[in-house]
Amino acid sequence: MVVWSPLKFNCGREIANRFVIAPLTTDSSREDGTAPDDELEFVRRRAASGFGAVISSAAYVADDGRSWQGIGAAHEKHLPSLRRLAEAMRAAGGLAILQIYDGGRIAKPELIGEQVMRAPSAVASLRPGARTPRAMTTDEVESLIASFRNAAALARQAGFDGVEVHGANHYAVHQFFSPRANRRDDKWGGTLAKRMNFPLAVAQAVRDALGPNLIAGFRVTPFEAEADGYKLEDSKQLCAELARLNLDYISVSLDDYRKSRPVGETRVYNGPVEKIDTPAVNPITEFARVIAGRSAVLASGGIKTCSDAEGAIALGADLVAIGRAVVVDPEWLAKVRSKSEASILAGLPKDEREIAGALSIPPRMVEYLLSRPGWIPRL
Ligand SMILES: Cc1cc2nc3c(=O)[nH]c(=O)nc-3n(C[C@H](O)[C@H](O)[C@H](O)COP(=O)(O)O)c2cc1C
Repeated sequence: MVVWSPLKFNCGREIANRFVIAPLTTDSSREDGTAPDDELEFVRRRAASGFGAVISSAAYVADDGRSWQGIGAAHEKHLPSLRRLAEAMRAAGGLAILQIYDGGRIAKPELIGEQVMRAPSAVASLRPGARTPRAMTTDEVESLIASFRNAAALARQAGFDGVEVHGANHYAVHQFFSPRANRRDDKWGGTLAKRMNFPLAVAQAVRDALGPNLIAGFRVTPFEAEADGYKLEDSKQLCAELARLNLDYISVSLDDYRKSRPVGETRVYNGPVEKIDTPAVNPITEFARVIAGRSAVLASGGIKTCSDAEGAIALGADLVAIGRAVVVDPEWLAKVRSKSEASILAGLPKDEREIAGALSIPPRMVEYLLSRPGWIPRL
């Protein structure tokens, strides 16, 4: 079966099977951006079941772009923690990939001080309670690209096998690509080509910092659920340009791979499902077509069984990322491999007190998971 077969990336590194742990923020790092033991244990236990690769939770590249209390890849002082994280991620010998991000207009005011929240343009996000950011100067845009480059250099020094740019889910890179968030009229905004400039500059900076022998990945939301957002045709053009940069993989971020549904900007999981004009074609298939084998395609969203994984591969993916299923059941992959899918845990225990200990989930992450009703299944 393809899912258990290896794959060689452009850079020459090989992944032993097609299963990858999706980036999963724990909101449980220390205030200085270092990972405490319980956060490392969350990763180690899940990686130990034999994933081909683990993508880390998103690490902030700049202090004033933090959206939660996560790991940092912004300063030399983060190196020892990043080294320990890479080691935990390699618990079963899989590849360790550091995801890096900036929050832009959805940075958390409590973490950064609201007066410095900066974004492509002074347009507030649709998230409940969002504040209006200020538009970044050109120097600030250049400096943010340099922060991504710096984070990739730190990842390399810390011994990671690669870096993934978080270009999805409404964070800063996505904001630059979005006509809703980006109203600039300089080199960094306006036409589709100009809105691609920031994502492409970040991808190039990361590739340059990593050199040719490490994995460079990029995560994309294939279209915006909001009416005036970018469309699948736009993100396909971005993919075509990203593939020209010789990236090792492009990751398609969906909430549900079958329904082609991305995460909406409001992130309301318990209300009525937003009416989304889903394209008639599946974004995974469309991305695979445009990328045409130049980079691997990583699919995610609602993959809970081996047959789901095969389904995503049949749509055109080369690799699949598993998120909520592995949060809920740390031994998910071992059960899939031994064909014991019937014993996979389908949700977090009803009794909140059982969650942290039984599942090796840091207590702050438990709070985070339960804070958005409908996000994570419960038993
Ligand atoms: C607790 C949690 C934290 C997440 N953190 C990140 C993150 O740091 N970066 C990211 O790109 N996606 C993040 N995601 C999204 C997942 O990577 C994944 O795309 C999403 O959950 C859909 O896949 P799934 O249905 O397998 O969970 C997170 C999801 C969850 C549940």
